[in-house]
Amino acid sequence: MTQMHAVRLHQYGAAENLIYEETQRPEPLPGEALVRIRAIGVNPVDWKTREGRGVAETPDSPIILGWDIAGVVEEVGSGVDRFAVGDEVFGMVRFPEFGNAYADYVAAPASELANKPANISFAEAAASPLVALTAWQALFDVAQLQAGQTLLVHAAAGGVGHVAVQLAKWRGARVIGTASARNADFLRGLGVDQVIDYTHERFEDAAQAVDVVLDTQGEETQRRSFTVIKPGGMLVSIAQMPDEALAQQYGVRTARIRVRPSGEQMAQIARLLEQRALRVEVAGAFPLSEAAAAHRLSETGHTRGKIVLIS
Ligand SMILES: NC(=O)c1ccc[n+]([C@@H]2O[C@H](COP(=O)([O-])OP(=O)(O)OC[C@H]3O[C@@H](n4cnc5c(N)ncnc54)[C@H](OP(=O)(O)O)[C@@H]3O)[C@@H](O)[C@H]2O)c1
Repeated sequence: MTQMHAVRLHQYGAAENLIYEETQRPEPLPGEALVRIRAIGVNPVDWKTREGRGVAETPDSPIILGWDIAGVVEEVGSGVDRFAVGDEVFGMVRFPEFGNAYADYVAAPASELANKPANISFAEAAASPLVALTAWQALFDVAQLQAGQTLLVHAAAGGVGHVAVQLAKWRGARVIGTASARNADFLRGLGVDQVIDYTHERFEDAAQAVDVVLDTQGEETQRRSFTVIKPGGMLVSIAQMPDEALAQQYGVRTARIRVRPSGEQMAQIARLLEQRALRVEVAGAFPLSEAAAAHRLSETGHTRGKIVLIS
């Protein structure tokens, strides 16, 4: 059996539990492509899963975390005609089951992959899928955001937030974003119309009568958000189930979403990346063997854009 390097988790717990070691290279099943991974996107769900409070079921053998990949097709399983050996691809693999992405190779369902735009790096491609699919589904599938509407994005400089603000501007919305002062210029550069420094100002004093709030924080931020939404407007949360009593009190529609794979949306996201209408900021890159350091940085909750691992 051919071997590869991967970061495996033998036990849920601290970042130190991520072990860089040799394991068996996967083989592509029918409908799958074996991808030589070049870069892997790190998301908060990775370390939440590492701690044992993620999305996937408890496994009975060592697991490989991670869902976002970019790389080169090494081999294709039977029935795969969309990709050929040598193609550069990217995607969010097998979410919400274990994605097996913190590795040199992954066998991925071809339906979850898209061609990587030639003009973007493997790092930017790997940083994109989960956050871009999340923002797309929250803003367009669920909130049906329209040109001319006003959107408030909490944590606008974070992984999901900085993509959401760009997608909303592309759609023609007016965008308000919360972030600390050090991210204000970054957000204005992405087209954000109004930046609120949440560390110095209550966002409800600076924003009123918005059509849609994208809640990435839950808790108190979510509760206070009801007061800034127009009657008939919408709160979409990716953090926690919205409070139905508050929704009724303020006459606001609510939804909580969990991102799902979509090959068709990945193709649209790839087009926007290629046109540079969407740029994904890679604020930190670590070798795969230093996944633990990448997790510790992500766990601060104050990174700009995305962190990636280089395989
Ligand atoms: N349901 C789903 O399908 C789904 C999908 C993706 C993500 N999520 C969840 O959504 C959350 C956000 O994900 P992410 O990838 O965007 O996280 P992230 O990249 O780690 O977010 C970091 C950003 O959060 C900002 N921030 C921290 N506290 C804030 C506050 N109180 N108000 C405003 N901004 C604040 C920081 O800005 P400053 O440094 O300026 O403070 C930083 O830029 C995570 O909990 C993640 O697990 C859920």
